[in-house]
Amino acid sequence: MSAFRIAPSILSADFARLGEEITRVVDAGADVIHFDVMDNHYVPNLTIGPLVCQAIRPVTTALIDVHLMVKPVDALIPIFAKAGADIISFHPEASEHVDRTLALIRDCGCKAGLALNPATSLNWLDHVMDRLDLILLMSVNPGFGGQSFIPSTLDKALSVRHRIDAHRDEDGQEIWLQVDGGVKASNIRAIAEAGVDTFVAGSAIFNAPDADGGYRGVIGELRAELGQVMARAA
Ligand code: DX5
Ligand code: ZN
Repeated sequence: MSAFRIAPSILSADFARLGEEITRVVDAGADVIHFDVMDNHYVPNLTIGPLVCQAIRPVTTALIDVHLMVKPVDALIPIFAKAGADIISFHPEASEHVDRTLALIRDCGCKAGLALNPATSLNWLDHVMDRLDLILLMSVNPGFGGQSFIPSTLDKALSVRHRIDAHRDEDGQEIWLQVDGGVKASNIRAIAEAGVDTFVAGSAIFNAPDADGGYRGVIGELRAELGQVMARAA
């Protein structure tokens, strides 16, 4: 198992001072900035696009992890790559040609991720493992922050972990396993025990009360829970 990574979703940040929010959350120990793109078509909400990605790129050296909840997908990939994205994930139902879209992401110089909704089958992974750098399991239905974690994600994560480990035996490549939606201190340990290494958390981090240490306090709490999983594995 690789190191654990915390990826705050800026969907729950204060957009009036986004650059400062990113600096603060990275200073507080975040590893990756999760950037949720919604189009009011694939999902019933509308958020941020490549101009915002470009604007935050100079603010941080942390990886920018673009989660595309848009349909169609392909035209936006070179634009986000140019805007500074490091990782680009998309939902297979939103692409006519999943293999082609995955190849396009790597051709643009980014890491490629496939995002699976709670009811989306793992069969989508069958023929594309070689093309993947990240598998994103949605633990809520996409579209909004602040929803509750769907428990069946844990079994799904265990299955994906088996697939990743079997695949790594073949080619030595590491595929990240990310969970997105409803992650917080009270459930992150169970999620990690199911084989997840990268944790998206929006409301749990950005709504953390200052009285409890703000972003540093909550990221510390998440890491303390993960530390217990590490200790048990050692
Ligand atoms: C939902 C987004 C998530 C969301 C997570 O469609 O993909 O990244 O912002 O937010 P929380 O952690 O509040 O569930
Ligand atoms: Zn997301």
